[in-house]
Amino acid sequence: MSDFPRPVIRPRRLRSTPAMRRLTAETRIHSAQLILPLFVREDTSEPLPIQSMPGVVQHSIDSLKQAVTDAASAGLGGVMLFGVPAARDAIGSGATDREGILNRATRVAAAEAGDALVVQSDLCLDEFTDHGHCGVLDAAGRVDNDATLERYRDMALAQAEAGSALLGLSGMMDGQVAAVRDALDGAGYHGTAILAYAAKYASAFYGPFREAVDSQLTGDRRTYQQDPANRREGLREATLDLAEGADILMVKPAMSFLDVLSDVAELSDVPVWAYQVSGEYAMIEAAAAHGWIDRSRAVHESVTGILRAGADAVLTYWAMELARNVG
Ligand code: PBG
Repeated sequence: MSDFPRPVIRPRRLRSTPAMRRLTAETRIHSAQLILPLFVREDTSEPLPIQSMPGVVQHSIDSLKQAVTDAASAGLGGVMLFGVPAARDAIGSGATDREGILNRATRVAAAEAGDALVVQSDLCLDEFTDHGHCGVLDAAGRVDNDATLERYRDMALAQAEAGSALLGLSGMMDGQVAAVRDALDGAGYHGTAILAYAAKYASAFYGPFREAVDSQLTGDRRTYQQDPANRREGLREATLDLAEGADILMVKPAMSFLDVLSDVAELSDVPVWAYQVSGEYAMIEAAAAHGWIDRSRAVHESVTGILRAGADAVLTYWAMELARNVG
């Protein structure tokens, strides 16, 4: 052996055995911090597979019941419901119809879940409009911010009435948190909480979701969702949503925006969540199907990274699988 100073400080000591690594892990995934997104389709009696999201289905009302029961027994923190209606129109009437698919699904899920987990609903018009935008359009075909807020207020009341405990405001309209809070409080729903998709970016990673909800969108959402280039603006959106009364903030997508997530987690005095979106799921599933990456390790690493960056909870299509593996 040649003569040179040997390291005194050896970080490898804490990596030496599985038991040591387990003991010194800084981040752990726990089932209580996982939320499973669920798609519920109006005109089906059987669950239907989604091509671009292998392993994920559009549920029927019946299979939704089972999914909620399973999620509760797996110890998940919650489920987030998305509706896939049979008919759509310009203002997204199905979203405020008390018998609309999302409101029906919410009633069923809330009854099934009891106190075992938190039933949450997506509050956005895109699944319900025939043009596929997250709001209503003005005469020039642009998304009309304030007219959309009126629709969101009605939608919030329908969802609160159906038993949703946490409304996921994903539309990225200015002032949506304050508008919905005011509508809820005005109707006595002081206890219904708001999850604000504070920093939501116009992302290519929503691709498979469009199939999942049969989206009618042509074009994109760049006039309301954020430009992926902007970090400071993510903080601005988060600050506004906090001031408007958001109970929880969300950053979405997760993997390409971990810096924004970390910034928001630093600033926020309410919980901060992240949404690991459909394209993040599809990407890992597709690479694993080719044998190009170790699927289970990649799934685990991707969610660990999101938690490490500062998320208190994660919406992920792997919630059930992860809960089974991590407890
Ligand atoms: C809008 C909404 C979208 C997603 C969740 N809510 C699509 C979009 O904004 O274009 C995407 C979720 C995913 O990709 O998994 N209501």
